[in-house]
This record gives sequence, structure tokens and C-alpha cells, in this order.
Amino acid sequence: MPVTPLDEHCWAIDTPASTYVIRVEVDPATGEAAPAQKYWGPRLSTEAARQVAAAREPRRHVTSFSTPSEAEELLPVDGGTRWGTPSLQVSFGHARSVELRFAGASEHDEGGGAQRLDLALADAHHPFEVVLSIRAREDTDVIERWTTVRHPPDQAGEPITVTRLDSANWFVPDQAGYRYSGVFGAWAEEFQLQREPLPVGELVFTSRQGITSHQANPWIMIDAGAAGEEHGEVWGVALAWSGSWRLTTTHRPEGGVSVSAGFGHEGVRWTLEPGQELTGPPALGLYSAAGFGAASRAWHEYARRHVLPTPGEERPVLYNSWEATAFAVTESGQLELAKTAASLGVELFVIDDGWFGARDDDTTSLGDWWPHRERFPAGLRGMLDGIRELGMRVGLWVEPEMVSPDSDLYRAHPDWILHLEHRRRDQKRNQLVLNFARRDIRDWALDWLDRLVTELDLDYFKWDMNRPFTQAGWPEQGAAQDRVWIEHTRGVYDVLDRLRERHPGLRIESCSGGGGRVDLGILRRTDEVWPSDNTDAKDRQQIQHGFSQLYPASTMSAWVTDSPNVTTGRAMPLRYRFHVAMAGVLGIGGDLPEWSPQELAEAAELIAQYKSVRRVIQHGAQFRLAGTPGQERSAVQYVLDDLVVALVYNPLGNAKRGPRRLRLAGLDPEALYEVVLGGDAGEGVRGRLAHGSRWYGSALMAAGIRPAAWEPIGADYRSDLVVLKRVSH
Ligand code: GLA
Repeated sequence: MPVTPLDEHCWAIDTPASTYVIRVEVDPATGEAAPAQKYWGPRLSTEAARQVAAAREPRRHVTSFSTPSEAEELLPVDGGTRWGTPSLQVSFGHARSVELRFAGASEHDEGGGAQRLDLALADAHHPFEVVLSIRAREDTDVIERWTTVRHPPDQAGEPITVTRLDSANWFVPDQAGYRYSGVFGAWAEEFQLQREPLPVGELVFTSRQGITSHQANPWIMIDAGAAGEEHGEVWGVALAWSGSWRLTTTHRPEGGVSVSAGFGHEGVRWTLEPGQELTGPPALGLYSAAGFGAASRAWHEYARRHVLPTPGEERPVLYNSWEATAFAVTESGQLELAKTAASLGVELFVIDDGWFGARDDDTTSLGDWWPHRERFPAGLRGMLDGIRELGMRVGLWVEPEMVSPDSDLYRAHPDWILHLEHRRRDQKRNQLVLNFARRDIRDWALDWLDRLVTELDLDYFKWDMNRPFTQAGWPEQGAAQDRVWIEHTRGVYDVLDRLRERHPGLRIESCSGGGGRVDLGILRRTDEVWPSDNTDAKDRQQIQHGFSQLYPASTMSAWVTDSPNVTTGRAMPLRYRFHVAMAGVLGIGGDLPEWSPQELAEAAELIAQYKSVRRVIQHGAQFRLAGTPGQERSAVQYVLDDLVVALVYNPLGNAKRGPRRLRLAGLDPEALYEVVLGGDAGEGVRGRLAHGSRWYGSALMAAGIRPAAWEPIGADYRSDLVVLKRVSH
């Protein structure tokens, strides 16, 4: 089992390929207890773990002016001889300092190969308890940690205010150098991968928006500076939370790197009355010995096994009307799109914004979730039945957390929004945020969502969230109103959970103006996410590259839209646009009546090809093979059972430099693989990849293939889909 006690203060926590050793250090002079990390790295035997744990001397140089070992603590508190960023900061009345005593440990079998260790601590004086929970599983190297703080019942005292509760602090074992990887961005430019030396100091990735944000995503990976896709040790930390968050990486001047991750942001206060407790979301740690590629595959597998609600399904090819019609949703317009979409092989038709209230543009009607009376006087049923008759499932766009000031809902309930007394109500995109911390508002949302699904037999919601919080208050709660920063997110989770419970067949896509709410918290209750409003295939390649660092392809919605692209104006061949979108969950978002018969025929063929390999793309092991996506030759590959799918790209017409051979990965070196798709342009590939030809896995991995798209001279934006099948073992 994963948790092995080494003595009454020390445990080894094993995953299939890693070990995490922790000890509750108790200062003999003061009695202060500080659980600390003794080891996190390759798997150790229990005896080896015991040796590691026995090393009791301080590993870092202590002076009168610093205690560097605080970086190794599982939850460094604000108190005592610590001066780093605290993972836990609490005040008792006016005194802001915590001194903990060890109160005991308990191990819990949770079934399914999971075990949890709880370390209980209590303040030396105040009625305040802390429980550190650590869960490991037999089938993943991801370790889950979270923290609970509690004001025990019937023990009054000074008011307890929590100003920081991180779920975990993770220490990265000493390296000769440090480099971090993370993703950053903006609207229409999410998930831009950054990999840079880690400067000495504190590096904060955060969102203060009440949503995960476009600007940063809650994870970081650290390596010694030389890890590659397929080699090198990588330590990763991710937070499963969809509201404001903060992830602080400290590179101490004396050496030592730690990452503390938790919900909320600075300034958010949470008061604990007797009997109340607060628990943070899971902060996840992953050690991987084989590079960023292996780390990503481990995160993907973890998401499939322990996060996603419907991991075994193949996601349907969808059509979404947003780029084609914007707000001008009409029955005839949607049915025209639907007929063409169905003829291409689309399986799910999603009507985006514009079907409700008087929603002719973005200035009105959020909150008025009934069919647009002028456009749908008889309701939506006729249109949706028409779509279903074409053999497709149906979905609708909704934005449940929002209200337009110009809406019947706001006129009736101006107090339903996040607001502060004596403060403005700032609008963004002409809208305000409903307070989902309130049960009555959640019940209202659940009620109309439920009614829509039931009355219209809906299969799918695209759940959008198009602005961050401002004036985030809840005046009726008085001194406790800051809670809204956390309770709103919990409220969204609650509505999603209850909706799914009532409608187990319903599938949900998370969107927040594109990729503003993509994280392992929302993915526990949504099936797909919309990574970006930017559907330009070149830009999208970079976005998808960053997305894939943590999240699996089965969650990544990707549409083929028109050329030139609406956002960037860039023109690109249909085939390239398809091959980029095929790297995730393929969708179509173009204005189909404008597509030529040739384009429609090509689209139908590419959709059929996608369906024949989507199981591999969505559920297989993903390898980012080469190059900077969108900038130069690149490729992404997926392996599942006997099938290998490679999507190969070359945006450059003149690309003489750089590799011309594509080395595949993750194959059985001894086995023979047959080319079953691709290698179509006989001339371009010079027979090297002829249909039906057979290659040893070792040859494909060591010498590589020469895909047509990678030839040095040709048109801009060439791409291939190559499929191989293992034919011998
Ligand atoms: C957001 C989404 C888009 C679209 C519009 C509709 O911007 O990201 O995909 O749904 O809202 O208003």
C-alpha cells in the first residue's frame, strides 16, 4: 500500500515510480511541530526510505538571520523563526502567529488502491487545529495534498481569521540549477509555454479574478535546466481549483526551491467561528524521471483515471455556430448549417449565444433564459427536433453566473450580484456576476438549467463565464463577505454536480471567453474545455502545445473555422486547419454555406479519418515530437494499443534547415508497424512511407520517417496525418 509508517513521526509514501518521505519534526526546545519533506524522487525501498528519513541533521545552513529549512516544511506557517512566504497565515484577534504541536497521525484506506495519511496539529494556545492530508494511489505518480483548518466547537477565544490557507508546500530536491515551466497568456492567446531559468526570489503565478484566468494557469514544473521531452527529472505542482489562486515558487538565496499552492489571493479573509472549518482544494505533486513528455503523460493519465467524469467516452465531432452566425441565431439559419454539418459527419450541433431573451448583441438578456420571443415565438423545440432528425445530438450555450443590467432578472433582483455597499458596480462586456455563493441563486440556476435539459432533451451545454469578479462582496454576510471569493467557485461546482446528477447523459464544456477556466477542478465536472477564442490554426498550435503540458487531448475542444480566420485574418489550407484541430476533440465552427463543394467533400473525408483514429488521439499516450509548433516543423503523436497516429506540420514553404526526418516515440522497438494511412503523396514522400510499407519500431524511433509535409520546399502550411498499426510483436 502507498503509505508506510517508518516510525511514529515518519512515513514513506510510495507511488509506482516515486517515493515521498515526510517527518513531523518536533523542536526539542520549544515543542513546536513542523511536518517536513525528507525526500521526493525516484522510488525507494522501505529500507532505503528509512535511511533517508534517519538523516536528522539540518540540511541547510542556519544563521541568526534565516531558517532556510522552512522551505522543506509541508506547510510553513506565519510564526516562529520563519520569514518566507507562509503557506498558512492566521490571526487570533490581533496576534498574527501560529505555533503548532503535533496531535497525531491516522492512516485511511480509501479503496481502489488509494491511501490517505492525515497529520493533525493544534495551536499551542488558541483553539485552532490543522490537518494535513496526503493521498497516494497505486496507479499514478501524482500525490494529492490538501489542508483543513478548524476552530473546534464549543471553544470560544479570540476571533480566528485565516488570511492564507495553501493546500501544500512542495520542496524540490536540491539541484545544480533550476528552471521553471509554466503557461501564460491573454484572451485569444492562452497557454503560451514559458521555460526559463528560475531566478532567486519569489515567483508568483496567480489569479485575482475569481476565475482561473487567461493570464496564468495553476501549475508549474521545475527541472535542473537540461530536461527534454523524453529525458530528465521534472517536479510538477498543480492546483485543482477554478477560482482565484496563488502559486508561489521560492528560490531561496541560500539555495532550495519550494512551491506553495492554494486558493484565494492576498487580502481575502476567512473567519472561523467555533465549529467551523475550511478545507483547500487538492494541490498535486508529480515527480517524473523521464522528461516533460513523461510528466505530461502522467498528468493526462491521472486526469483520465481520477479527475474526468466520463474518461472512457469518445467525444463526438461537434459543430458550433458562434463564428458563423454570432448573435444572429434563427431557426432557418441554424437548420441550414445543421444540414451541411450532418452531411459532413458532425455528431453534435451546438447553438451558441443569441437564442434567448432579446439577445441581439452582448448588451442584453443574460439571466433571461427563455427562447428569444421574436426569433422563436413557438420555442426552440422545432429547431432542435429538426437538428435531431438529421441524426445529431443538440447542445446550447449558457452563461449561468452572469446577468445583464438590461434584463428582467436584474430588474427583479438587483441584489443578486456580487457587490459592495458604497461601491460602483463595474461592468465588463456589459454584464455583472451573480453571487453563486448564495444557495437561492444556485437553486434558481439549477432550476432553469434542469428545465432546459428536460424540456428540450438537451445533450450538451457550453457553460461560459465571460468576465472576472469586481466589487466582489456579499453585504448580507457583513464581516464574512470575503468568503464569496471561495464560495462562488464551490457554488459553481455544486450546480454542475447537481445538474450532472439529475442528467447523467448531459455533457458539459467549460468556457470562459476561451480558456479562462481550464484547471483540474473544473475538469472534475466538465467533459471538455474551450481553450481559446482564437481558432487560427497557427496560433492554435502554440496554444495546444501549452495546453497539452497538463491536460489531455480528450478535453481539448478544437474547431476548424473559416479562412481567412476571423481573429487574425490569416489564410490557411483546409487540410492544415483540420490537422491542427484533429489534435484534440475535433469540431467545426465555420460558416458552412460559404464553403465550396470541394471544401465540403474534403472536410467530410477528413472528419471520417478523424473518427477512425480519434480513440487513439483522445485516449492514447501523447508525444510532442519535435519543433516549435506553429513556427517550424513540428509533430504530435499518440499511441494506443496497436495504433500510432502522427499529425505532422510545416508552416514554412521554405524550410531548408531543421530536421527533415521525424523520429517517432513510444513504440515497441522489436515490433513491425505498417503504414495504414498517410504516405499518400507518393511523390512527396519518395516512396519512403508508402501505404502498406512495414517498419521496425526501432527504425521509426531511431532513424525516423520522412513525411511529405516536411520536405524543404513547398507551399506554406503543409501537414500530414500518418497512421501506423503494429502488425507483429
Ligand atoms: C465567449 C466564448 C465564445 C462565444 C461567446 C458568445 O466569448 O468564448 O466562444 O461563446 O462568448 O458570446
